[in-house]
Amino acid sequence: MSSYKIAILAGDGIGPEITAEAIKILKLVEARNDVQFELMPAPFGASAYFEHGHPYPDASKAICDAADAILKGPIGLSHEASKGIPVDLQPERGALLPMRRRYNTYANIRPVSLPKGLAHFSPLKPEIIGEGIDIIMVRELVGGLYFGAKEMGVNDAGLRYVNESLEYDENQIRQILHEAFKLADRRAKRLHNIHKSNVLKSSVLWNEIVDEVAPEYPEVEVIHMLVDAAATHLCLNPGQFDVMVMENMFGDILSDQGGGILGSLGLMPSACLGPDKAYYEPSHGSAPDIAGKNIANPYSMIGSVAMMLEYSFGMYAEARNIWEAMQGVFNEGYSTADLSKPGAGVKMIDTVAFGDRVVEKLSAMPRVA
Ligand code: IPM
Ligand code: MG
Repeated sequence: MSSYKIAILAGDGIGPEITAEAIKILKLVEARNDVQFELMPAPFGASAYFEHGHPYPDASKAICDAADAILKGPIGLSHEASKGIPVDLQPERGALLPMRRRYNTYANIRPVSLPKGLAHFSPLKPEIIGEGIDIIMVRELVGGLYFGAKEMGVNDAGLRYVNESLEYDENQIRQILHEAFKLADRRAKRLHNIHKSNVLKSSVLWNEIVDEVAPEYPEVEVIHMLVDAAATHLCLNPGQFDVMVMENMFGDILSDQGGGILGSLGLMPSACLGPDKAYYEPSHGSAPDIAGKNIANPYSMIGSVAMMLEYSFGMYAEARNIWEAMQGVFNEGYSTADLSKPGAGVKMIDTVAFGDRVVEKLSAMPRVA
């Protein structure tokens, strides 16, 4: 029997609620398969700051270090509440980015996927959705503006100024491109390279490396697209995209737009892969306005479990079963509150009920092995 240690970072806001549903699925996967999970909860985020004085306490680092994989809920507070925490200890800067750096999770895999049967959740017209949306965005996650040198001050003219730099070296670019090319090679053999080389030097270097790496994947067609144009094309013709690759900030923004064309960021799980460690998290924030109301959509968190099974534990078939079980619940006409307005002809279910229905569906599926 395989046995894995999983660090559980429930996070802030809706984090604990959707994490509870993800844990239900992990327990069921354990019961259905020849696998054992040791779940190791660890404080992380604003709640960790208030209880332990740091958003990523040393004890949590030790738990993550010891884990085979990390499941992380969303973190962060409302804009106002964030002001109660010193800037450098706010959970994004004080916990999340340090974790990304600690494990060098350079490859952020963000599926933007909506099967045809769920097209009614999308704000796009049916004729634009066509056969459904099935994109994987590959975002570089540990470089660029988010990790470059930063300074703020007062300049010689007495004006407050800021300077932050977008830094990449060629190896950082090459390693993320290889991930994207490999993925494209396994899928539709089409890779959209998203850049802004008409303005940014960083994109000029990026594209040079694309040209160097591409010959290693002769079957993959590379399509170059400016990031601003890509934003439009995502709305007008999402079906043209299969795998998209881009630097950190472009990926942050376009992946949120990805959630938009699906109908909700609640449908956006992600995998953050490093050379030795991976963590899995929803792409969205902690939604403090709806926290504790049992109305958040746990799809992104349960989807992150599916991605963990696939990328960290090689349990491909069971991962597919989880996707099918979740989509099966929606196919029966159910919806969570983020996806539909009341009276839209759907049967509204809450966080716990969605998790329960996924458990029911998954339990009814044949075991994999
Ligand atoms: C994301 C989030 C984070 C990011 C925030 C919380 C720092 O928006 O994972 O997309 O910008 O990377
Ligand atoms: Mg984001």
